[in-house]
Amino acid sequence: MKGLSAIVIGATGGIGSAMLRQFDKDSTINTIFAIGRSRPGHGGSDKIQWISSDFSEASVKDVSKHLARLHKELNLHPKFIVIATGVLHDETNGIFPEKRLADLKLETSEYVFQVNCHIPMIWLQQLTQLFSRTERTAVAVLSARVGSISDNELGGWYAYRGSKSALNMMLKCFAIEVKRRFRDVSVIVFHPGTTDTRLSKPFQANVPESKLFSPDFVAERLDISLGQTNPESNIRFEDYAQARIDW
Ligand SMILES: NC(=O)c1ccc[n+]([C@@H]2O[C@H](COP(=O)([O-])OP(=O)(O)OC[C@H]3O[C@@H](n4cnc5c(N)ncnc54)[C@H](OP(=O)(O)O)[C@@H]3O)[C@@H](O)[C@H]2O)c1
Repeated sequence: MKGLSAIVIGATGGIGSAMLRQFDKDSTINTIFAIGRSRPGHGGSDKIQWISSDFSEASVKDVSKHLARLHKELNLHPKFIVIATGVLHDETNGIFPEKRLADLKLETSEYVFQVNCHIPMIWLQQLTQLFSRTERTAVAVLSARVGSISDNELGGWYAYRGSKSALNMMLKCFAIEVKRRFRDVSVIVFHPGTTDTRLSKPFQANVPESKLFSPDFVAERLDISLGQTNPESNIRFEDYAQARIDW
């Protein structure tokens, strides 16, 4: 009988690190693999194994192979995979969400698409080697409601919105492809709501206190989504309240 693991990509982020705490409380999970560009200096639970990556394509491949080896050696199967990377603003690199099309810049837009869409998809491409035909894996990728095309009433945030819509489309392709080989793999495209992290800091002023969630609250909600199955489809775009979002 295999033990169970959880893998968190982007484990240094506000939501990623809250997922580590959430999985640490789950007695069914034996080992948590935390993947980040850096690792926190302070201790943490014995269940957590940190692996560093610079998130280049080569590093994603190496880390995924290393994870596959560790799962074999330790006789583990990944119960949960969470990809919690993302960028909305980065002042040091001149990235801020565009108010109008005139603000769009090729270089920064490409970077936002790379972090929000391409990097999660390259991780999924490589982590597929951990899937099993007989055991369940629930994959959650942090997206955002603003990536919904039908929900877009306000406009703006061209690169962020566009990168999340592109992510959602690629995840839909992935879900269709993966179903052919792995019936027990499900994909949750998750909107956490406005969460009190680095990413939302400059945009919290007009958010009512009751609508600004703590990362630990969001981690609990995402854990609920991960535990649910839907016989009708292996992919769901949903929010922290498990309410479906139109694509
Ligand atoms: N917070 C919200 O209100 C909110 C709302 C809707 C959706 N989301 C989504 O939730 C996800 C998690 O965001 P968060 O709120 O936890 O933000 P956060 O605290 O800023 O965490 C962002 C994570 O992404 C990583 N990251 C950023 N740029 C990267 C790059 N170039 N290469 C590799 N990793 C990179 C960060 O790594 P480092 O620590 O190394 O920088 C960190 O792990 C994102 O996809 C975001 O779009 C958040």
